[in-house]
Amino acid sequence: MDQKKIAIYPGTFDPVTNGHLDIMVRANTLFDKLIVAVALSPKKNPLFSTTERVGFIKEALNGQDKIEVHSFDNLLIDFAFEHKASVIIKGLRAVSDFEFELQMGLMNRNLNNQIETVFMIPSQEYSFLSSSFIKETAQHGADIRHLVPKCVYDGLQIIRK
Ligand code: COA
Repeated sequence: MDQKKIAIYPGTFDPVTNGHLDIMVRANTLFDKLIVAVALSPKKNPLFSTTERVGFIKEALNGQDKIEVHSFDNLLIDFAFEHKASVIIKGLRAVSDFEFELQMGLMNRNLNNQIETVFMIPSQEYSFLSSSFIKETAQHGADIRHLVPKCVYDGLQIIRK
């Protein structure tokens, strides 16, 4: 019997950007099901609550079937196993991402070698993006409408100085 290929795309997504969405849309074409996993990440002291971060992604993905959005607060590898995923997707924006991502990928493989980490490259126009840059520039009133979905742009107005 054919087993469905399920992939997990994890992150803090505080907030989701067009760079993340670009990876989601690309990954969605490769797997039977994609699960976007929003980490609570209390250590990162997120600006948006988990419910808001999940809500932004769901709204931005409106119309993309086959993509589920969940939050999680346990080990990523355990979350992936619980959801029968065989692949973890990570985006590589630049060489500087590689060292840390390689370390995490190897650690995750050490914990469960049945789950593969797959690196994907976002579109070049988003390769410089990060959620922190978005928050910082939005705070100072930069026009970042072309870099985030509309719901995120609207949500960011609360921090505008
Ligand atoms: N477009 C735009 N920005 C991107 C991006 C893309 N395609 N890919 C990554 N980024 C940005 C993110 O916005 C984030 O920016 P920020 O640091 O300014 O917030 C940064 O790059 C790092 O992203 P990411 O590598 O996804 O890290 P994260 O902190 O968002 O998420 C987890 C890391 C949640 C995947 C990881 O901590 C985890 O697995 N946690 C669960 C606990 C666990 O299992 N720990 C053991 C790991 S071995």
